[in-house]
Amino acid sequence: MSTLKVDQVSKLFRSTSRGGGLTAALRKVSFEIPQGEVVTLIGESGSGKSTLGKVILRLIQPTSGTITFDGRPIDKYPQREYYQYVQGVFQDPFSSYNPIYRADRVFELVRGTYFPRMGGAEWEAKVEGALDAVALNPADVLGKYPHQLSGGQQQRLLIARALLLDVKFLVADEIISMLDASTRVDILNLLVKLKKQGLAILFVTHDLSLGNYVSDRTIILRHGAIVEMGATPKVFGNPRHDYTKMLLTAVPELHKKWQHTPLGPVTAAGDAAVTVDSALATDVITAGGNGAVATAVAHATLLDEFSHAEAVVKRDLRAVFSREGRGSAAVSALLAPPSLTEFEPDHLVAEPE
Ligand SMILES: Nc1ncnc2c1ncn2[C@@H]1O[C@H](COP(=O)(O)OP(=O)(O)OP(=O)(O)O)[C@@H](O)[C@H]1O
Ligand SMILES: [Mg+2]
Repeated sequence: MSTLKVDQVSKLFRSTSRGGGLTAALRKVSFEIPQGEVVTLIGESGSGKSTLGKVILRLIQPTSGTITFDGRPIDKYPQREYYQYVQGVFQDPFSSYNPIYRADRVFELVRGTYFPRMGGAEWEAKVEGALDAVALNPADVLGKYPHQLSGGQQQRLLIARALLLDVKFLVADEIISMLDASTRVDILNLLVKLKKQGLAILFVTHDLSLGNYVSDRTIILRHGAIVEMGATPKVFGNPRHDYTKMLLTAVPELHKKWQHTPLGPVTAAGDAAVTVDSALATDVITAGGNGAVATAVAHATLLDEFSHAEAVVKRDLRAVFSREGRGSAAVSALLAPPSLTEFEPDHLVAEPE
C-alpha cells in the first residue's frame, strides 16, 4: 500500500521585502494519505497550500522535515521513477500547454521519457485508455491545438497524461477553480472515480463546498500550520477551530478569494514576543526567555539555504553560546505550529491562539 507521509515539514522563504525577513510558508506540517484516499487541503490565500503541493512534487525543497512515499524519502527516488508515481495538475490548464504545439504533445513527452521503446499501436491503445478514463473522445482532442480545446478538456488531458504513468498520488492544486460550474462537477466526479480505482489525491481548494463533496478527510491550513484535521464530515459538521468556523461562515462568497492575513507577530516561548521581520533584521535575536541551544543548532542547518539567515543564525548562535539562554526562541517561534489536541478520534484541533 503506497502511503504518502509528510512529517514535520517546514518551508521558509526569504521575503523580498527590505530587511530580508523570512516567511514561514509551512510550519511543521504532518499528515499521511494512504492509497485511495482523497484529502482536501483548505486555507486562505497565502496559507501555504501550493507550497505544500510543490514540496510533495519535489519542485521545491523543504527547509526541514521529511516526506516519504511507500516508506522511502522522496528525494531518494530517481526523479524519473518518482514522477511515475506522483504527479500534479495545477489551477491554470492554459499555462500548462505551449500554444505553438498540438495539445497532445504533452503525451509525446511522457512517451519519450517513460516508454521510448513502446510500439506505435501499443502506445495508441494506452493513450486511448487514458482518454477513456477521463471521458474524452480521442477524435475530439488528439491533433488539436490548445486554443481549440475548452478549459475542461485541457484539464482532463492533463489528468489523462498523469494516468499514462503508474500514478498513485495526484496533487490537484485548485484544478477546477478556473472551470465553469458544470465542468467542475464533471472533473470532481472524475476524481471520485479515480479514487475508487486506488488513486490518492491531495485536493487543494479555496472552495469548502467542493472539498466537502469530494474528500474523505480535510486539513485546514492557516499561516503554514495545520489548525484542524479530520474526517471531512467531522470537520464540516462540527468545526472546532475558530478559523474553520470562519471559513465555513464565509461559504456563501463562493467565488471570492479569502482575505490574506499577514503572519504578524509570533509569540515566542516564554515571555518574549518577537516579530518575524524584526527577529531577522536585528543584529541579535533578542527573544529573551530560555531559548535552548539545541533548538538553535537544529535551525542553523535548516536555514542554510538563505545566506543572510544563516549569517544571522550563526551570529546568534555565538550570542547563545556567549550569553546563555538568549537567542534561539525567535527562530523556533517562527516555525512553531499550534499544538493539536485530539477532540475525538480522527479529529485534531489546534488550541485557541
Ligand atoms: N518562491 C517563493 N518565494 C518567496 N515566497 C514565496 C514563494 N512561494 C510562496 N511564497 C510565500 O509563501 C506563502 C505561501 O504561499 P502559497 O503559494 O503556498 O499559498 P497558497 O495557500 O497556495 O495561496 P493561494 O490560495 O493564493 O494559491 C505566501 O506568503 C507566499 O508569498
Ligand atoms: Mg496556491
